[in-house]
Amino acid sequence: MPLSISRTAEIQTFFQEAAGFGNEHGNPRMKQIVLRVLQDTAKLIEDLEITDDEFWTAVDYLNRLGGRGEAGLLVAGLGIEHFLDLLSDAKDAEVGKTGGTPRTIEGPLYVAGAPLSKGEARLDDGRDPGTPMFLEGRVLDLDGKPIAGAIVDVWHANTKGLYSYFDQSQSAYNLRRRIVTDAQGRYRARSIVPSGYGCPADGPTQECLDRLGRHGQRPAHIHFFISAPGYRHLTTQINLSGDQYLWDDFAYATRDGLVGEVNFVEDASGRHAELEFSFQLQKATSADDEQRSPAPGYRHLTTQINLSGDQYLWDDFAYATRDGLVGEVNFVEDASGRHAELEFSFQLQKATSADDEQRSQRPRALQVQGA
Ligand SMILES: [Fe+2]
Repeated sequence: MPLSISRTAEIQTFFQEAAGFGNEHGNPRMKQIVLRVLQDTAKLIEDLEITDDEFWTAVDYLNRLGGRGEAGLLVAGLGIEHFLDLLSDAKDAEVGKTGGTPRTIEGPLYVAGAPLSKGEARLDDGRDPGTPMFLEGRVLDLDGKPIAGAIVDVWHANTKGLYSYFDQSQSAYNLRRRIVTDAQGRYRARSIVPSGYGCPADGPTQECLDRLGRHGQRPAHIHFFISAPGYRHLTTQINLSGDQYLWDDFAYATRDGLVGEVNFVEDASGRHAELEFSFQLQKATSADDEQRSPAPGYRHLTTQINLSGDQYLWDDFAYATRDGLVGEVNFVEDASGRHAELEFSFQLQKATSADDEQRSQRPRALQVQGA
């Protein structure tokens, strides 16, 4: 029987103090959660007789995990994100919220604000010589009636298994679009067939999976948020048929009802893929139901580039020019005439709350319909 002191009154009081229960400040929910983390960590250390070496190895691991930005990957790989889906399913079943397209994990690679278009969109920028993919389907309610004006927010990897934004070699929002369904609830997209991908081979997630004797591969898949006024927000993925990892996904995202049957077609113009997939949404029972859970992403940034060479660059009556916001414009004369080139990259801070991701809600002078 391992030695245990964690349940003594003295240690429990000590953990309560460490979790902030001795003061009137801070956040009560946070205190409750941290207390439980301390209690359960202590119990784990005692029950499994964790050695000092093991403990400090784990601390070092967490530092490296955060340093590589892979915490989201590890929670997918250890099945915790899938567990959250199963728990949500069980809660839904308890209150009779059943039917429709199954949810599955979001993963850590969504970027908000992809270009919005009506009915159809091309997702790829034409620079990746992948197999063209024509994807279409409808957004329906549980009775099979079309939902017009639903937003199909779609994102997927390129042929190297990499996502734009995180892979800075791709153009902005490449393979990311929001498509508004037409009167028949239809959406259509042209893109390229995505590749499956694995955890970075030299990263801490793969290091953990190696120790567990597991691979870190995902089948080719396409991510979606489907939303419409009056309907429950759906986070899901289509996992592509024929992929060797379809039912052996390290992140456990493939589910019955989420396999997309890809048809490869050869014709005079070459080879392309066709994929048809429709979504069915449950009715919302509250306004919150219509929203994605607000896991923090990146802080909204309002800014300007002020153009180099302008006489008012540093003499702006509105004082908007700042260090770091001067865009160096290069004017180029060539055979086709004169043009300007301007390269400017943005760096975002991580959001610490859902509010952080939004522009402050001041009244707008001009609200463009549908914008
Ligand atoms: Fe993904």
